[in-house]
Amino acid sequence: MIRKRILTGDRPTGKLHLGHYVGSLANRAKLQDEYETYILIADVQALTDNFAHPEKVRENVREVLLDNLAVGIDPEKATFHIQSMIPETAELTVFFANLVTVSRLERNPTVKDEIAQRGFNKSLPLGFFMYPVSQAADIAVVRANLVPVGADQIPHVEQTREIVREFNRVYGGNIFPEPEALLGKVKRLAGTDGGAKMSKSLGNVIYLSDDAEEVKSKVMAMYTDPTRIHPNDPGHVEGNPVFEYHKAFNKNQAEVRDLEERYQKGKVGDVEVKERLALALNEFLDPIREKRCEYESKGPKYLDEILLEGTKKARQVTQETLKMVRSAMKIDYF
Ligand code: TRP
Repeated sequence: MIRKRILTGDRPTGKLHLGHYVGSLANRAKLQDEYETYILIADVQALTDNFAHPEKVRENVREVLLDNLAVGIDPEKATFHIQSMIPETAELTVFFANLVTVSRLERNPTVKDEIAQRGFNKSLPLGFFMYPVSQAADIAVVRANLVPVGADQIPHVEQTREIVREFNRVYGGNIFPEPEALLGKVKRLAGTDGGAKMSKSLGNVIYLSDDAEEVKSKVMAMYTDPTRIHPNDPGHVEGNPVFEYHKAFNKNQAEVRDLEERYQKGKVGDVEVKERLALALNEFLDPIREKRCEYESKGPKYLDEILLEGTKKARQVTQETLKMVRSAMKIDYF
């Protein structure tokens, strides 16, 4: 039986955090047996806003691999590959660029936010502006069916669907399936500061590799219900990131319901709720930390081998795709 394919990936600009876990990593781990899974280390995309800091991108390639392995993704099952080592993706990006307009790219809400965040409003690098086209190529070059991602990536998957639809319409051959996005249980995890999104560039993150002390101090400093002055004031659970994390990560959901009820009645203080969250998070993170250590102790050569073998394997597929693409586009001259 032919298994359907997953492609998803991460920019190697820093270690992965709880937001990545609920958005995408959990689904990757869960679906790795059912789907033929390709996991991309998106170094080319990372360079679109870090072009002057290649050392930062390089350093984080292994970290991102380790984070993926730490959550239980098996390198024997999933194919880890490095974007810059797949030249077919770069080729396909150029062909795809013909099939999307500048005004369509300007409407991508995620890119809009990122442009504002990075101060690119005044002077926007073309590479950054068009990274969604390259992301469409990442997905299409392995002819993926499913893309497990967080909510911020939905516009990119939508754009990918439009591009491959247009490719199939113009050139025929039905080479590309229209990929579906798959969201995690929590669509968008709030930051520890109560901001809408956990994001390294906003400094409101808990990393999968944080130690127990770091987790505790980040949790104790978390934003909570701002309307609550005294521990006996009735508190709000909705929109309160402390409770959002409890719901997402605490194994003991009966404890969570009890805390919620008492919180709403003004019968439990923020300190206790946070202390219990720190315990729950550390319990959740312990096996992940352990696995990370295990893989780390195998040494850098072992990790490099995973990337090298995975990239070779991915290229068998990407080369096959480009052969079909060249033929459909009538540029298969010799
Ligand atoms: N844009 C994604 C992020 O910022 C990384 C990424 C690159 C990706 N190519 C992809 C995700 C293809 C899914 C599919 O994390």
